[in-house]
Amino acid sequence: MKRIIVLGLMTLAVSNAAAQKTENSLKKAFKDKFYIGTAMSLPQINGTDVKSDQIITSQFSSIVAENCMKSMFLQPQEGKFFFDDADRFVAFGEKNNMFIIGHTLIWHSQLPKWFFVDKDGKNVSAEVLKQRMKNHINTVVSRYKGRVKGWDVVNEAIMEDGTYRKSKFYEILGEEFIPLAFQYAQEADPNAELYYNDYNEWFPEKVKTVINIVKNMKSRGIRVDGVGMQTHVGLDTPKLEEYEKAIVDYASAGVKVNVTEMEISALPSPWGTSANVSDTVEYQAKMNPYTKGLPQNVQKEWENRYLDFFRLFIKHEDKIRRVTMWGVTDNQSWKNDFPVKGRTDYPLLFDRNFKAKPVVEKIIQLTKEKK
Ligand code: G3I
Repeated sequence: MKRIIVLGLMTLAVSNAAAQKTENSLKKAFKDKFYIGTAMSLPQINGTDVKSDQIITSQFSSIVAENCMKSMFLQPQEGKFFFDDADRFVAFGEKNNMFIIGHTLIWHSQLPKWFFVDKDGKNVSAEVLKQRMKNHINTVVSRYKGRVKGWDVVNEAIMEDGTYRKSKFYEILGEEFIPLAFQYAQEADPNAELYYNDYNEWFPEKVKTVINIVKNMKSRGIRVDGVGMQTHVGLDTPKLEEYEKAIVDYASAGVKVNVTEMEISALPSPWGTSANVSDTVEYQAKMNPYTKGLPQNVQKEWENRYLDFFRLFIKHEDKIRRVTMWGVTDNQSWKNDFPVKGRTDYPLLFDRNFKAKPVVEKIIQLTKEKK
């Protein structure tokens, strides 16, 4: 009898602990504010990174594929689509009731080589490029119609000074390639949310151009629901005030803000916050100072920086649709190889042993504070 009671109490204790764990998850804490998401790598999508998958399902309410929905993977050869990984990714999200994001339809990078050229290697005409864009967008978006809830339709098309990136899309179609992409996406799934996504989207001239694009599309009846502010940030840049101003400005232009691709690097940066993958710098030991762990003062600074950002997100929760981390654990982060290859960075919310860092609980507590 005594044994049964002890066992009963133990079961109760275990289920209480489990309840508390769920009680304290990020997704529960932010349930009434905005989606809280993460990017998923291929091992996570394929179920071979089981520990990360457990974190993803218990902590996050939204997912985006870190790589497998980019055009070079989805359509490596013209007309030959490869959907196996993306299908598994979408199935994972549906099984776990998540808000699924597609990343990304039109991007100058991670794009298959054939996209812009004819059989002689010459630039295709505007008409051919439009047809290729339409076919890619329509095939991909239609496949996941009603299941992928939001698309990064165009990624990284504007420079920090507000000019258009001189990509092949721009060279061949001019500024019109952006509205065209949104129009094709809207036709393929009228109910999906459609976003323009970019990094350094707090640079004032960049904000202006993005807002002009948004307004121009809206005035022509082309839907755009949100701006994705990639948040690949460091300890010092950007200033919180400039980031906040951008949130407010985008919201005033009538779109929601998605905080996308978030991580805070703890390492020195040679130049700030570019996320342009071709901008790399040669390895130097002084740029990799914390191979054995973060010193306490840096850890504190890093944690405070996260808390400042999340305070800001909560302050503007009416303008924010989603906050998405760019990965789960530190060892998975692209920041270990960017902008300097082979460093040890600590940018994400879960450590290399799959444990939540203390900042996670502190972020959760922020949601309980009175504003
Ligand atoms: O798949 C190959 C694998 O077969 C090979 O063994 C390995 C060796 O390096 O490389 C693997 O490919 C890598 C791929 O990620 C998958 O891990 C590529 O080299 C690597 O360049 C690629 O990097 C991705 C990068 O986009 C490419 O542009 C990062 O994981 C991904 O985090 C990053 O994400 C972008 C967003 O899409 C857009 N915004 C900026 C952000 C950071 O660059």
